[in-house]
Amino acid sequence: MQYININGGRVLGGGLSVHGAKNSVLPILAGSVLIDGESVIHNCPDLSDVKSCTNIIEKLGGSAKREGDTLCVNASDIYYSEISKELMGQMRSSIIFLGSLSARRGRACMFLPGGCKIGARPIDIHLRALQSLGYKISFDGSFICCERDSARGGAVTLPFPSVGATENTILASALLDGRTVINNAAREPEIEDLAAFLNSAGARIYGAGSSVIEIEGVKKLNSTEHTVIPDRILASSIMSAAAAAGGEVTIKSITLSHLVPVLPVFEEMGCKLFVSKSELKIKAPKRIKAVKSIVTGVYPSFPTDSQAPVMAALCRAKGSSIIKETIFENRLQHAAELSRFGADIVVSDRTAVVNGVSTLHGAEAYCTDLRGGAAVIIAALGAEGESRIYNINHVDRGYEKIEAQLSQLGADIRRINDEKGQQVKT
Ligand code: UD1
Repeated sequence: MQYININGGRVLGGGLSVHGAKNSVLPILAGSVLIDGESVIHNCPDLSDVKSCTNIIEKLGGSAKREGDTLCVNASDIYYSEISKELMGQMRSSIIFLGSLSARRGRACMFLPGGCKIGARPIDIHLRALQSLGYKISFDGSFICCERDSARGGAVTLPFPSVGATENTILASALLDGRTVINNAAREPEIEDLAAFLNSAGARIYGAGSSVIEIEGVKKLNSTEHTVIPDRILASSIMSAAAAAGGEVTIKSITLSHLVPVLPVFEEMGCKLFVSKSELKIKAPKRIKAVKSIVTGVYPSFPTDSQAPVMAALCRAKGSSIIKETIFENRLQHAAELSRFGADIVVSDRTAVVNGVSTLHGAEAYCTDLRGGAAVIIAALGAEGESRIYNINHVDRGYEKIEAQLSQLGADIRRINDEKGQQVKT
């Protein structure tokens, strides 16, 4: 199908605006199912995961129309309450429809999305949270049915601040009678964005962004308009590209406070950062320095989604960096792909030691998953010579036309339509 061709070794320059956050849009689209009317969603990136969500909404009986970066969703006429295996398989995070669909329709049935490469990704926390609210759930390991019946607001304590489980609990409780309190909630900015969207439609959600969220159930949610927050993971990926290839890049339309967990890492690399509230300029040296230790964690710790792009930049650093992945048990697969460029990375369990090398060379490499895919593209930007990156469908899930964005910064990168078909790693 398609691959990406990169002639690496070009210093980056210029500026670009980041698009809306994928991890906000997806739960917001699930939230639009709760709304008896139209949801006008601005700053909505054109990603394959977004398309998968709108496919689900359309199959349920709703509509979704895009004009530029605005998506208009109308879920007034949703009449169906089952999501097919095929639709669930298009996107792993489709499980966030469980809470909203069962709240709106009284019942929701869906298959579990297929196996996941970055970890097992169980949904036990989601299910237990909904059960705490009185939802009745049957689950045979692959097909799940959730019934609202006599569910009502109540106390939910999450054993781990899961992003998806927090979102599902918010979505499941927004229309319930009574007050729900979520303890140990995830604090990611995307949770705050979901709450802001639902509140703009008439929901009463307080405390999103903190570890205790309160939801006063309301009878109905009405038409609304919302602008999605900037994608902090895209911003950190662009910063990683600048650190890998060198140069001076201005990243516009950011929310600076959301990037606070990653900024010290780039400073430790020796990058100079010039910041304002909505803009960040990164000036990267020709060769960055190693970073002593990066440990991923829940917000506001270093984001697991930024781990792979940052690792790609560190491949060419002076010295050795240690990266520990604590969120997903299998999220260091990109290390093997990075080694195709000549990177020296030693992985043991959930820790990677990245021994910086002075030069990387062009290579053929594969996207292992969404952020792992961004990592190989970033490595290719900093490598001397030509690279081909395969399985880029993973990257299209979360980066809108990545080749166009990086070309804008002076990278020599093209998407090629390969008639011989997509190369699949064996
Ligand atoms: C979301 C993000 C993803 C990000 C992740 C962590 C979206 C669409 N995706 O994923 O990009 O990497 O947060 O910041 O927003 N877990 C369980 N049981 C559960 C739920 C989760 O054991 O019921 C575990 C997971 O397997 C994982 C960890 O908890 O090891 C974190 O998962 P979670 O916070 O739920 O991530 P997602 O919502 O799937």
